Amino acid sequence: MMMKFTILAAFVFSFALATGSSGQAQEIEVEKVFKFYCAQCHGVSGKGDGPNVTEDFPVSPRNFTNAAEMNKLTNADIKNVVMDGGPSMSKSPMMPPWSKTLSEAEVDALIGHLRVLCNCKGKEG
Ligand code: HEC
Repeated sequence: MMMKFTILAAFVFSFALATGSSGQAQEIEVEKVFKFYCAQCHGVSGKGDGPNVTEDFPVSPRNFTNAAEMNKLTNADIKNVVMDGGPSMSKSPMMPPWSKTLSEAEVDALIGHLRVLCNCKGKEG
């Protein structure tokens, strides 16, 4: 019991350090954010092949390196689906909503990261 608590406390503490609890605006390390929150499904390199994806996944996580598919989305579309989850864009609930976990600035940074991965600008608008 005590051991568990210690581990949890250590985790919370290091998380607080990592995210910075100063409340000041700080640079977002987008690759870290992506690895931590997105890569388990979308894969570290964004190919949709993260370790979380099993055969019983009803849909594959989007391959972010597929420029043809990623060009169908505006940055606003990406923001919606990341903030509010798959169903907000008539997609699968297997894509979780992140608005309670990530700040808007982090989501904006992630959109930039996805545009690097697809090497595409996306749909206008
Ligand atoms: C639990 C697994 C999982 C995690 C974690 C996850 N996704 Fe997804 N994501 C999916 C799945 C599955 C889809 C495909 C949904 C569909 O096509 O119906 C998807 C779809 C998307 C889409 C929509 C692509 C399109 O063509 O409409 C975007 C954008 C996206 N994810 C971004 C992210 C970002 C950014 C993160 C990290 C903050 C993230 N995802 C984390 C599973 C996940």
